[in-house]
Amino acid sequence: MVDQSLRGFLDDLEARGDLHRITRSVDPRFEIGAILALRDRGPAQLFQNVAGHALPLVGNLFNGRDRIARALGVQAGDLDAHCQEALRRPVPPRIVATAPVQEVVRRQDLDLGRLLPVPHWFEREAAPYITAGVIVAKDPETGRRNVSIARLRLEGGARLLAGIARNHHLAILAEKARSRGRSLEIAVAIGNHAAVLLGSQMYVALGEDEFDIAGGLLGAPVDLVACKTVDLEVPAAAEIVLEGVLDPDQTIPEGPVSEFPGFYVDYGPGIGVEIRCVTQRHDAIYQAILPGLAAEHCLLGAVAIGATLTRDLRRVIPAVRRVFVTEGGMGRLHAVIAMHRPRLGEGKCAALLAFGTVNLLKLITVVDDDIDPEDSRAVEWSLAARFRGHEDLIVLPGVKADRCDPVHENLVVTKVAMVATTRPGDGEPHGRSEFARPPRDILDRVTRDLASY
Ligand SMILES: Cc1cc2nc3c(=O)[nH]c(=O)nc-3n(C[C@H](O)[C@H](O)[C@H](O)COP(=O)(O)O)c2cc1C
Repeated sequence: MVDQSLRGFLDDLEARGDLHRITRSVDPRFEIGAILALRDRGPAQLFQNVAGHALPLVGNLFNGRDRIARALGVQAGDLDAHCQEALRRPVPPRIVATAPVQEVVRRQDLDLGRLLPVPHWFEREAAPYITAGVIVAKDPETGRRNVSIARLRLEGGARLLAGIARNHHLAILAEKARSRGRSLEIAVAIGNHAAVLLGSQMYVALGEDEFDIAGGLLGAPVDLVACKTVDLEVPAAAEIVLEGVLDPDQTIPEGPVSEFPGFYVDYGPGIGVEIRCVTQRHDAIYQAILPGLAAEHCLLGAVAIGATLTRDLRRVIPAVRRVFVTEGGMGRLHAVIAMHRPRLGEGKCAALLAFGTVNLLKLITVVDDDIDPEDSRAVEWSLAARFRGHEDLIVLPGVKADRCDPVHENLVVTKVAMVATTRPGDGEPHGRSEFARPPRDILDRVTRDLASY
């Protein structure tokens, strides 16, 4: 039986000294955020005593590719291959009758600010935000499920504000509901296995169920349980679930909110949500993801966007081996594409296809697959060794930007690609880019016997 909860991974982290327990009382108002930010890349942080709250809070759980990989039971170097396999062979979820996440069911007195230790993250944000809530909804037209994360701000009592980008599928479902004069039922699962969190971030087509991909990542069907008050199913092993409706006719001004570039943005109004039922484990752990420019926030997106782009580009250009979305580019805006012996001009095709596939991307470096795209030094070497600025540079001013881009002007931005690949014939004996090496037989022998030296 595969452990589908967060708890097995917490035990694993603890056993390796990678879980830091904080026993002193900590204020959810800015103090938790400050600690998570100062320990952004360190051990996961378990706050056992959140002032004014009964539930503990865990943060900084998946703040490295190695952590995400470990939680999925694979080596860090195999994370992308594991995602490719999950995308190739999705596993549909399974419905179970009973669930740990429904040990406690509450339908009355739903004061979310009192029930949950939701951190108030940043100075200019108006209220605390739930940031690790995996939102499940169904398409009012097709009944197909959608699973994604969007920030949810506490508005008092059982009310929330949902901040959803207009191009995201959840916003499309909300719009479909609005055009039918209806609200959209949602369920928010908090405290999830890495497979569910990462699955929720995959850039798949509208109508593709992210729980199928989560099942592929998990290597088993995700166990789902029917909600108590809405026609939706949620991960049975989650810690907490909020059931309710998103009312697209109810808009609430949001004001400044943090975004992954690290800056405040003001996207205008968010959508109102009314929670009608809260279910949880009797000893639930509240999971929080530090928002803004933070490793976990950036990486969950980076890994998923890179994986889906690898799949999508390879379908059209088989020479593409890997698309790696870099953390330096905020896990969203910059990518490296590795290609196997690209034909003349094919690197440019791959870059243009990537820009066309993911709105967010604006700087792409294309390298040969002898370069590890995860090794920024090797990528820079490739630029120094193989990139000819006068013909390998693409500069595309005035391209539609994502609203998250920190330098867009009127929602357009300049997109740039650098193709740092070899040309056919490069590297031939006595050519300009022939690698300097000892004779092959001696190099092979010394490689084999290196430990003996
Ligand atoms: C921690 C975290 C927080 C996120 N917050 C938001 C958010 O507030 N609004 C939003 O539109 N997307 C947010 N996202 C990104 C979406 O979850 C992601 O793009 C997802 O693939 C959208 O799925 P959908 O198109 O199926 O709705 C967040 C992602 C992560 C990892």
